[in-house]
Amino acid sequence: MLYDATRFSGNGEASCASCHIFGDNDDLAWDLGNPDDAVKQNPIPINFGDAATIALGKILFGVRGPINGGDDDPKVFHPMKGPMTTQTLRGLRNSGAMHWRGDRANGFFGIDPFDSNLSFNNFIVAFQGLVGSSELPSSAEMQKFTDFQLQVLGPPNPVRNFDNSLTAAQQRGSNFYFGTRPADGVFIPGLATVNDGTNFNCNGCHTVDASRGFFGTGGRSSFEGITQIVKIPHLRNMYTKVGMFGVAKVDFFKTNFQTTFQGDQIRGFGFVNDGSVPTLLHFLTAAVFAPQLTSGFPLINPDGTRRDVEQFLLAFSSDLAPIVGQQVTLTNTNSSAVGPRIDLMTRRAGTSFVSKELGGAVKECDLVARVALGGRVKGFFFDPAAGNFMPDDGGPRVSGSALRALASTPGQEVTFTCAPPGSGVRILASN
Ligand code: HEC
Ligand code: HEC
Repeated sequence: MLYDATRFSGNGEASCASCHIFGDNDDLAWDLGNPDDAVKQNPIPINFGDAATIALGKILFGVRGPINGGDDDPKVFHPMKGPMTTQTLRGLRNSGAMHWRGDRANGFFGIDPFDSNLSFNNFIVAFQGLVGSSELPSSAEMQKFTDFQLQVLGPPNPVRNFDNSLTAAQQRGSNFYFGTRPADGVFIPGLATVNDGTNFNCNGCHTVDASRGFFGTGGRSSFEGITQIVKIPHLRNMYTKVGMFGVAKVDFFKTNFQTTFQGDQIRGFGFVNDGSVPTLLHFLTAAVFAPQLTSGFPLINPDGTRRDVEQFLLAFSSDLAPIVGQQVTLTNTNSSAVGPRIDLMTRRAGTSFVSKELGGAVKECDLVARVALGGRVKGFFFDPAAGNFMPDDGGPRVSGSALRALASTPGQEVTFTCAPPGSGVRILASN
């Protein structure tokens, strides 16, 4: 259903994957507004969403005219939403309502502010409205598609260190992200619980909690000084959005820079719902984060902290540890280069990791090794508790050094792979 253009598109040329390439995105924005559609209710709780805060915010942040398509009502989804960038279909299960505004929270199969299963099922109408099918899939088919898609995870973050540590700059960025100084809002001691909060640090909106599968979104929405109420997005794939440079002068930013041509561009769309923000540094100069006495970026050297937060965002955590997918082959000539990498993989295979999607408390990876022995490829599975490898034929366990020693014989190169936790045995079985 993701890829099939023959059954579901009117003229056989479009499928969901035409825009969601391999279940990801196309780095483009599309205007999916529909002038014939109805205004719908928005069930999602909104930070800064009460009328008084929105009225004040509109003045402070220079929002011209009413929000949400003319109704000035934070609790509606207007059908004319304007261009929005294609979102990835990876990592949806714990991220709540879908679409930038979360507007699939209200649709074909019902209304729920946080239910990702319902939200994805509500995309059934996209088969007709977007891909041009003459028929809708059955409800049973749509549930199967949902079950398939909600299993798909984002990849490990390729920017983050293999040992899952943060660089000094990323750590400083993380300290601000999770720190006591609010990034957004007004800090009035004692008033923190009024209207769901008058201020938030980054994590107060972009919740990170691996045990609940949250990587930047807890499912709520927020008024951010823009013309529509938008759901607080997850932040796992920021490194994939780099490539646009330079921006027009707009009220969204406190100060405008790089407003002239910046040279060759890799992408035409960048960050936020409409892709209009070129870089993360630009994003962090948004008026809502302006340095104030008790909130926003620090008054002294705000760009230093912005740069640090940018580094942290590029290395954001995901459902899989950075070591997952790493593979290296030991031969009789490369042990000095490859040995330290095998040491690292072995250590990470014994390091605890939390991932709701992988079942809670796991290790960072399943370390497996394969080597051609006795006329077949033999697999070994690392047991971190015992510190040795179990062969796939039930024979005696071998130590790591004995396994590495096999590679000193040409033809017995040993390939080590850090498989996703829970997938090591399956990978060994695929002989
Ligand atoms: C023409 C390009 C295009 C096609 C075809 C397309 N989409 Fe999308 N998709 C988008 C855009 C653009 C968005 C963001 C729109 C918004 O937020 O209003 C999106 C968002 C989504 C999201 C939300 C993800 C999230 O994180 O909230 C899901 C789920 C989705 N599409 C599923 C589908 C399915 C299922 C199909 C096929 C029936 C499909 N899409 C076909 C462009 C497309
Ligand atoms: C009050 C809630 C709130 C706070 C606090 C907040 N954000 Fe956001 N953030 C949002 C919303 C809502 C959006 C979506 C805006 C849009 O798409 O137009 C967003 C968008 C983003 C994006 C763009 C994501 C993308 O996919 O393009 C990044 C990056 C981001 N925020 C990082 C941060 C950082 C870092 C902080 C702390 C300095 C922060 N945010 C504080 C609500 C918040």
